[in-house]
Amino acid sequence: MYLAHVMASLCSCRRISSSAGSIQRCFSVNIRRKYTTPGVLGGKPTVPFLRTAAAIPNITVLFFRGDRLTRFRQFSIISGLNDVIHTPDSRVQVSRVMSPDDANPLGFIHGGIVLQMIGEAGYISATKYCNSQESRSQGNKACFAALARAERTDFLQSMFVGEFAKVNAEVTYTSKHSLEVQVTVFAENVMKGTQRLTNRAHLWYVPVSVDDGKVVEVPAMTYSSPEMEEQGRLRYETQKSQRRDDIGQTRNAVENEYFHNFGIETAEPYTVPYSQSSLTHFILSADCTLQGYVRGGTTMKLMDEVAGLVAIKHCMSPAVTASVDAINFHKKIKQAGLINLFARLTYTSDKSIEVQVLVDVQYISLTRRQIYKERACDAYFTFVSLSQKDFSPQKIPPLKLLTEVEVERFKSGHERYKAKKALRNEEKQRKA
Ligand code: COA
Repeated sequence: MYLAHVMASLCSCRRISSSAGSIQRCFSVNIRRKYTTPGVLGGKPTVPFLRTAAAIPNITVLFFRGDRLTRFRQFSIISGLNDVIHTPDSRVQVSRVMSPDDANPLGFIHGGIVLQMIGEAGYISATKYCNSQESRSQGNKACFAALARAERTDFLQSMFVGEFAKVNAEVTYTSKHSLEVQVTVFAENVMKGTQRLTNRAHLWYVPVSVDDGKVVEVPAMTYSSPEMEEQGRLRYETQKSQRRDDIGQTRNAVENEYFHNFGIETAEPYTVPYSQSSLTHFILSADCTLQGYVRGGTTMKLMDEVAGLVAIKHCMSPAVTASVDAINFHKKIKQAGLINLFARLTYTSDKSIEVQVLVDVQYISLTRRQIYKERACDAYFTFVSLSQKDFSPQKIPPLKLLTEVEVERFKSGHERYKAKKALRNEEKQRKA
């Protein structure tokens, strides 16, 4: 996709200057807005040029030898630091206008659409970082960034049709084989001149070689201060220890987890079977990276869709995504497989509802006449039901528990609810 943008920009860019004596010509192009601006010769932009660039996010400079594109490089200036040039190869900003296709009938943008945009921006940022010129000059192989984990994501405010979603992503920490990307999402209303922060997300990517599919090393990052590095290391250690607990529970847990779909039609309202839902998606090339693996953002979008269905069936009213707990992506999902998503209600509080989503992948081998299944990931989504009068959070019908297993799930849901509430209160106090 990134290359496609560059190609689109190439078509629209014009030659800015050239000289008979020079073999290099320089173009500057804004990737998203196809904007051209004066550049300089010789491959090194001057300060006046970069000042111009400061007004425009994500300037890309394309370098030519003859008619051949030899390299391109992205520049931006951190405002307030005049003439200080940063070349953060990982920094990206993706913007998109929100259309009725992205929203529920009331105009609220689906959480899954936002998750998909977060995943895409994170993927671009991480893949750019791992393939930077510095990395390639150290002999590192071409690779793509596979989404390994999405930390808990809160939906701080709703986004609406007509607003511009502005997604910023940047690599903030690197370990030997993984990198953390921080993403912020803003809802921008240019008519009113307002901008609201809607999401902040932390994603972990692992670079995988394009040649042989093996995990490769990440180029080490230079931090602006020792504190930044230390904080990143702490986040890395924390997620690593959380993952150790998770691995045993999720991997290869497919067999016993299939839903008993029979009897759903006769199930009593407010019970787990009444609202449980499933969705099967045949993976097409549009869902995949160039290497033929499903993009993490696509999977997160599907997960939100099926979880939202459960919330709406239980509450019989519109529901919005409030948060998503950390997701570990254990397996790559290949093109031509089937994604099976199952979602069930696990817990209800006074005004929120927790839905567990299990994602399995199935591959059908026609030659061996066999079906292979594996668990790709699972996650807990929290939804809030909105009143149709004024869209304020409203009471949730309590969940009726029928079995011992449901009681156990409800208890652990209550523990997660208390932990999340404590975290939110801590954050509120810190901000106050
Ligand atoms: N979260 C964060 N980092 C993870 C991770 C996770 N869930 N799983 C692995 N890693 C990191 C490790 O910490 C290690 O980095 P380090 O050495 O700097 O600590 C690095 O990945 C390699 O670990 P390793 O155990 O050798 O890798 P692996 O064989 O488990 O492969 C993946 C890791 C991510 C490539 C593999 O699990 C995978 O392919 N997952 C699916 C990815 C995908 O397709 N995402 C989109 C889903 S739709």
